[in-house]
Amino acid sequence: MRKIPLIIILAISFISIISCKKDKKVVQTDNANGKIEQKVDSVLALMTLAEKIGQMNQYNGSWDVTGPASGVNDKEKETRLKNGGVGSMLNVLSVKATREAQKTVMENSRLKIPLIIGYDVIHGYKTIFPIPLGESASWDLDIIKESAAIAASEASAAGIHWTFAPMIDVSRDARWGRVMEGSGEDPYLTAKIGVARVQGFQGDDLTKNNTIAACAKHFAGYGFAEAGRDYNTVNVGEYELHNMILPPFKAAAEAGVATFMNSFNEIDGIPATGHKVLQRDILKDGWNWDGFMVSDWGSIGEMIAHGYAKDKKHAAEIAANAGSDMDMESYAYVAHLEALVKEGKVKEGVIDDAVKRILRVKFKLGLFVDPYKYCNEEREKNEIFTKENQDFSREVAKKSIVLLKNETNLLPLTKTGKTIAVIGPLADDKDTPLGNWRAKGGRDTAVSLLEGIQNAVPPSIKVTYAEGCSIVTDKGIGSTFLLPLKFNKTDKSGFQKAINVAKNADVVVLAIGEMALQTGEGRSQADIGFAGVQQELLEAILKVNKNVIITLMNGRPMDISWAAQHVPSILECWHLGSQSGNAIADVLFGDYNPSGKLPVSFPYHVGQEPLYYNQKMTGRPFSPQHVTFSGYRDAPKEALYPFGYGLSYTTFEYKNLQLDKTEIPVSGEIKVSVEITNTGKRDGEEVVQLYIRDLVGSLTRPIKELKGFEKINLKSGETKTVTFTINSKTLQFYTVNKKWEVEPGNFEIWIGTDSKASLKATFNVVE
Ligand code: NOJ
Repeated sequence: MRKIPLIIILAISFISIISCKKDKKVVQTDNANGKIEQKVDSVLALMTLAEKIGQMNQYNGSWDVTGPASGVNDKEKETRLKNGGVGSMLNVLSVKATREAQKTVMENSRLKIPLIIGYDVIHGYKTIFPIPLGESASWDLDIIKESAAIAASEASAAGIHWTFAPMIDVSRDARWGRVMEGSGEDPYLTAKIGVARVQGFQGDDLTKNNTIAACAKHFAGYGFAEAGRDYNTVNVGEYELHNMILPPFKAAAEAGVATFMNSFNEIDGIPATGHKVLQRDILKDGWNWDGFMVSDWGSIGEMIAHGYAKDKKHAAEIAANAGSDMDMESYAYVAHLEALVKEGKVKEGVIDDAVKRILRVKFKLGLFVDPYKYCNEEREKNEIFTKENQDFSREVAKKSIVLLKNETNLLPLTKTGKTIAVIGPLADDKDTPLGNWRAKGGRDTAVSLLEGIQNAVPPSIKVTYAEGCSIVTDKGIGSTFLLPLKFNKTDKSGFQKAINVAKNADVVVLAIGEMALQTGEGRSQADIGFAGVQQELLEAILKVNKNVIITLMNGRPMDISWAAQHVPSILECWHLGSQSGNAIADVLFGDYNPSGKLPVSFPYHVGQEPLYYNQKMTGRPFSPQHVTFSGYRDAPKEALYPFGYGLSYTTFEYKNLQLDKTEIPVSGEIKVSVEITNTGKRDGEEVVQLYIRDLVGSLTRPIKELKGFEKINLKSGETKTVTFTINSKTLQFYTVNKKWEVEPGNFEIWIGTDSKASLKATFNVVE
């Protein structure tokens, strides 16, 4: 045990002895958590009000600014660190820096309560994995969990204790820049992936030095920003909130996520940061969750701009009473909570509850045993960006690629003598594949597509290259948080070279899409087509060579409808991380048979947004006979590529959908099975998807809802039977009674390859 002040050690032992003597119950429940509770209480009992408020204060380390810069200078931060006025820091990077910050607290403050240090480790620390939206397209919970575990292991080796991930905001609007950071439009898939990520980051033991605390964010509704504009108003009703937005958060709470972060948006008139029903009634009391809630960056202060608080003091009062336990970068708690307690506007019990939650997580992480447990220079030198981690990143990346179109079976490419032209603004880009929120992923450290192809081919294949055009006028711009990108709308000087290269090749691999910083926080777009002159480049290339494969690199669903009509093959390659080029080459040459499925619908037109498969029926449902009912006169109603969609180099046939019974009571169970055969010539993986529809409810129910999936391997010619269990968990929803219930009635069920699955059966649930 190092550096823990004697006063805390004595207090912990004393209180343990007292409680053991006084209360038998305490002795009986003396498990790990029981012990932690005693320790938390004993530390709290030693704290002054100012020290308690200090725990609720989080400062930015000034190393990496991920929000509008704050006004507090480094001297003031240091003074507060020394006098116990800071409970947490964010963006303090490297073992040296985190040790320094921790030392300042441990060697100067009265109680020496260790800091918890957080950072946005969203899809890797230095070894970068696909952006979360891309990784979600793998529908592979094991690799998702493992990629989070590797991210945690690298981050912890660099001194980080806590990540602000996973983002589990269900998001339905491709215009919203942060769609890249989540798992798409479906609450069931988002919940499953969210839990896998929490388990990956936190492992089974938070006291280990290679696991870190996770953070379920943003609570709640952030992904429903009106018109896809970041930070914008959210207006959803209570039932939509419970049925569509909250399920992933409930799942994360149940999985033991250590922390939550609230969100910037208001929801039905109340900013989430000041939302008592969400934070106290639902999360803490309703779900019995005992972690702590950190505000989003400055979101307590932003309640003034929302028009919900008259000044910072008022904002601090609202946020603390509503259940925001830690203030990220508003400086509202540290400035005003003491006075608010003295004035009786915030009860000391509210402060105690927040501080206990924060201390609890620090105890769980083992920081009281060793505040420097993550400060190991050897690990920092040897365990980050390793070959092993790079190899795993490639595995995840190839499984995240979605084959959208392969009309003429242009893919996979053979590795025999031919010329491959690699063209496009993203073809030799070593930075874009890292995506936004790339933590310490170093600039230009990804394997570019061109490099990946060159690594893969034998000498008999000639690889030629032309950039064609650039997407922006200055590639450096946009790397800073608030600066907008300037798109290249005029410069086509590279077209001619690209056309010549295309003309002289057998096949063209065209890398177009979005730059890394076109998506992410504050990066919403009204136009989701190809920015700049990329569309013109595509058309010019197609005129001289029909054998074009687009490798789309992007952070959101894009409008690619022209390309989908005219280009024979399209691979959705997202922003795939450090090993992007190698992973794409694996798929291009058939060394890996693509198995990804879209976690979001791709529209024909931006005007269809928000677009999602699990819509409601309406009173005048859309149908081929009534195309103008609940649709558009000038555009399709359906998606160009629907949720769950993705092709393979082989083909799968679904048949024999069988239910072991067709009638069950509300607490009953049905086994549904289906046979899937690999009818093609290659081995492959398929994501078998189960959807249901509750035909009549006390509230209207979605047209289809994903309720199960399984990713299976099938050898060429092989048949497998997949069985799902349908029970009350599958069928329940948040009903008009404000409870999760199964309502008796008729249900439809589909199993298939995507959300358009047509193999269907029905069953009844009876009282
Ligand atoms: C604001 C973002 O909304 C949040 O997701 C992030 O964790 C914080 N900034 C800290 O960087």
